[in-house]
Amino acid sequence: MLKVIELFAGVGAQRQGLKEANIDHEVVAISEIDKYAIKVYEKLHGNTPNLGDITKIERLPKADLWTYSFPCTDISLSGKMLGFDKGSNTQSSLLWEVQRLLEIAKINNELPKYLLMENVKNIVSKRFKSNFKEWISFLEELGYKNFYQILNSKDFNIPQNRQRVFMLSIRDDKAEYSFPSPIPLSLKLKDMLEDEVDKKYYLSEKMLQFLNDETNRNGFIRKKTV
Ligand SMILES: C[S@@+](CC[C@H](N)C(=O)[O-])C[C@H]1O[C@@H](n2cnc3c(N)ncnc32)[C@H](O)[C@@H]1O
Repeated sequence: MLKVIELFAGVGAQRQGLKEANIDHEVVAISEIDKYAIKVYEKLHGNTPNLGDITKIERLPKADLWTYSFPCTDISLSGKMLGFDKGSNTQSSLLWEVQRLLEIAKINNELPKYLLMENVKNIVSKRFKSNFKEWISFLEELGYKNFYQILNSKDFNIPQNRQRVFMLSIRDDKAEYSFPSPIPLSLKLKDMLEDEVDKKYYLSEKMLQFLNDETNRNGFIRKKTV
């Protein structure tokens, strides 16, 4: 059975993926600090040991797979793009906590065989490529072979145009991996929506305005002038 640690667990999308792929697994620990995410996580997956704030973890239990979908806040086009330089103290620089924990696992001869990263597409843009390459070089030094690709949820029968970078790292220099091929989109947005939704979940006018304001994307997208 695959023993798994979900860092930056959120609501446990990675765990859900393992369930849906019918991969026999046990999540031995998670790291998450958001009380609402933790509540949802527990509802979806049951009680799971939560080690809390990643910066305070001294050592992780032994596992075969670590997932680390670290905060994209400072990488995403929708944010201020402060980046994730090591020591920069940005939310996204929490990635380097994973480096610290991997270094500890190495000392204890407990490096996981697999690592799975997920983040926004912008992580492989010109602006952040050097940080991303630095991360990959570190993983290579530890003996990981890294496979990454931009995947779009609409290519996997989810009616949403959402591009994300996934990277699978395998600690085996002969490892080979290819990402799954796209499948046809048969679902529509209306298939995913609930019929009855309490008004308290509606977006406020202010939020709707923000989401519709195409200039509000760090200047990358501008409203067409007519
Ligand atoms: C991109 S989200 C991960 C989403 C997740 N893959 C899911 O399935 O919902 C990043 C997560 O990191 C968490 N996080 C932020 N700072 C953290 C910290 N210091 N320690 C642990 N988790 C943290 C956030 O609360 C957030 O849920």
